[in-house]
Amino acid sequence: MADKNEWGSNLSFILAMIGSAVGLGNIWRYPYVLYSNGGGAFYIPYIVAILLMGIPFLILEYGVGYDFKSSFPKAIRSIHSNWEFLGWLLPVAVFIIMIYYSAILGWDGIYMILSFSKGWGANPDTFFANTLLHSTDSVSGLLTFIPIIAVAMLVGWVIIWFVSHRDLEEGLGKVSKVLVPALFVIMVIIVGVSLTLPGASIGLSELFNPNWSLLGHFEIWMAAFGQIVFSLSLGMSIAFTYASYTKDDADLITNTISIALANSLFENFAALGVFSILGYMSMQSGTAVADLVTQGTGLVFVVYPTVFNVLGQWAYILGPLFFLTVYLAGLTSILSTVEPLSFSIQNKFGYSRSKAMTILIIVGAALSMIYATAYGGNVLGFVDTFINQIALLFGIILECIIFAWIFKAEKLIGFLNSRSKTIKLGKWWLVIVKFILPVFIAIIWIGGLNDVIQTATFDQLVFTALTAAILLIATVIFTVLPSKNPDWDKTEERV
Ligand code: PHE
Repeated sequence: MADKNEWGSNLSFILAMIGSAVGLGNIWRYPYVLYSNGGGAFYIPYIVAILLMGIPFLILEYGVGYDFKSSFPKAIRSIHSNWEFLGWLLPVAVFIIMIYYSAILGWDGIYMILSFSKGWGANPDTFFANTLLHSTDSVSGLLTFIPIIAVAMLVGWVIIWFVSHRDLEEGLGKVSKVLVPALFVIMVIIVGVSLTLPGASIGLSELFNPNWSLLGHFEIWMAAFGQIVFSLSLGMSIAFTYASYTKDDADLITNTISIALANSLFENFAALGVFSILGYMSMQSGTAVADLVTQGTGLVFVVYPTVFNVLGQWAYILGPLFFLTVYLAGLTSILSTVEPLSFSIQNKFGYSRSKAMTILIIVGAALSMIYATAYGGNVLGFVDTFINQIALLFGIILECIIFAWIFKAEKLIGFLNSRSKTIKLGKWWLVIVKFILPVFIAIIWIGGLNDVIQTATFDQLVFTALTAAILLIATVIFTVLPSKNPDWDKTEERV
């Protein structure tokens, strides 16, 4: 049975991290966020968010993961023996992300096949909402099961199992080394073709046209920080877990910089492609770019098919390539979402990697069937909002308090700097991870929470409460179950 959790090389580690970061957030979220928050002017808060939060926070998570070389809950337990509960919270939250990410992957798989024949027909809007998802706003839709979605999702779960139940390097390591470079190559092709489309420049000048006056507005700063949190997969114990799989000497500071750069490069490329194509569409249809642009499922499953419908022959190349990119980007991200919980279970209960993965994937696949119902799309929206606006930001604040303050980030500076060939950490880094970051994130967190409470419908509140309850109950169960690893109970406090 597969039992090894060790990267074969630093390259596998970096590529797997990039694979986790580059995902739907880069393709469907970023172009819209950039456009609707000041265009070219957005780069200022965006770069500040990367320098002030993305890179310093990732260095912190890596540093602690590398130092502890254990699962996340075990590390928290050794910081304070009564806090194991907090250690399970994030890995379980990430597993919840996995379950809904699998639905989007499934939809995308269906579109990849449809794109060879433009099988969505003349009306992509009604096709997506009605023909495919049978979408309804009534909770009774939970009883209407849609087999095709279930099949598409199960295909994804089988692929995930196939990769994840092997030894780390044999599965995730190897797959990342192939898929992540492939993803960049395909993206370059898509952008290359898109830029040659007539009208591309209309889209691009709309996109980058800077609106400097927005710089004074708090919202665009919030949007930039929110984008970086999601896009770099911060606050989720993924970086921690990946770093704990590193056995050799690693230059974590330089790794972090490479990962952040690759992630930004990819999302800015995606923006070029998306907006060139929207510019083309705008020219063909006479609709303003502003009326075409949207984000999320609307962009991928409605706007893009609409564009492909008017694109003629190019659509048979761009269409399948585009849905393939989304699939691969989604796949390399979803593979990272099972690692923290799986490693924690192996660590506490003595399961082999392959056994822990198999169980988690079966449970995840079973739970994901809620998204194969006619009300599934709505549930997905609610869970996504809860995770993004509440859980992830909370994770960052929690990690800053526990790692930077209680564990004391000072302890990490020595070994991080001694290996770094680029930047060296100093007082500035401590000021960021101890003060600036938690305070700023706390402000955004309160803003987001307030937003959810103000705008939520009754159904949304019920589902948000249910998700929170499931998260807490699962966390309690993992915490109170007795451990089968003698090392676990012996954990010595390291503070
Ligand atoms: N970073 C991923 C993206 O941009 C999202 C993600 C969230 C990945 C959670 C893993 C875990 O799409």
